[in-house]
Amino acid sequence: MPDEQQRIISPRPREEDLSGEKSLRPQRLAEYIGQEKVVENLKIAIAAAKARGEPLDHLLFYGPPGLGKTTIAGVLANEMGVSIKITAGPAIERAGDLAAILTNLKKDDILFIDEVHRLNRAVEEVLYPAMEDFALDIIVGKGPSARNLRLRLPKFTVIGATTRLALLTSPLRDRFGSVYRLEFYSLEAMTEIVNRSAQLLKTEMTTEAAVEIARRARGTPRIANRLLKRVRDYAQVVAGNRITLDVAREALERLEVDELGLDENDRRVLRALIEQFDGGPVGLSTLAAATAEEVDAIEDVYEPYLLQIGFLQRTSRGRIATRRAYEHLGIPYSERSQQGGESEYQQSSLL
Ligand code: ADE
Repeated sequence: MPDEQQRIISPRPREEDLSGEKSLRPQRLAEYIGQEKVVENLKIAIAAAKARGEPLDHLLFYGPPGLGKTTIAGVLANEMGVSIKITAGPAIERAGDLAAILTNLKKDDILFIDEVHRLNRAVEEVLYPAMEDFALDIIVGKGPSARNLRLRLPKFTVIGATTRLALLTSPLRDRFGSVYRLEFYSLEAMTEIVNRSAQLLKTEMTTEAAVEIARRARGTPRIANRLLKRVRDYAQVVAGNRITLDVAREALERLEVDELGLDENDRRVLRALIEQFDGGPVGLSTLAAATAEEVDAIEDVYEPYLLQIGFLQRTSRGRIATRRAYEHLGIPYSERSQQGGESEYQQSSLL
């Protein structure tokens, strides 16, 4: 099985991002590039909460990995002037773990829960009254003498993040005052992000080179920053530290990231769909088995971008490769009964 973490274009965080990415992350809303609709709404939410002297309402962010859910949570903490505690669904194993976190929060603090769809049932039950009434219900004792004890918590804000909104239970989803969807970034926003990061890394780069890196970063800032660092290494060793278009192209070619930001693994998934299943429709688990990938990896990592660029369609009967996908791989497309049923998703293109 290919190691997802080794892919340069994986949108999931890698070890190297955690140190380097932090310094490239915007700290304030004014530095934040892209996601304009979300940013505008957040500005209003911040101003209103500040004017009332209250914490922000609970917020939920969803969308593909790498688009800035954690970054925005950090920015919100800075804008509100409060502390943020960062955790993740699978890290909170027992109700007691969450109780410990909650009782350590101070007034107005932000609790960021990544992968919030992966909280277990018992933990969710503790979270409901905490979010709704700022209360922690504890059962003391056993059997007939057991009593319910209600502890008051300071008012705080939960920021939840998920790549899979559909997997959230509805009681949990209902407790978030606002739900924001993060979108893949436009080419203009990506170019701006690459330029900003290059400046922070004190790397000289031409405008065309910035566009080239932006174009191949799949609308995902985390990937852009990672590609930029690899291109910078290449420029440092072979090109006197200056990133020109040619240098960027050579470096990206060595990384086997093509003009659309696809790597060998994306192409392998598409090729399997086209060559083994005649372009589909094929079910998700069948496609996963044929490519030795995990179902989750196909759904969370490969699909969102392939859908976005119009290479893949998700239909009620399964996944279908589009004409564009055939053309990109140089495989002849035959007009045949590509009837996959209704398309579930509207596609918009980054191209
Ligand atoms: N670095 C990563 N994401 C960013 C963004 N949205 N704006 C500015 N810099 C970033």
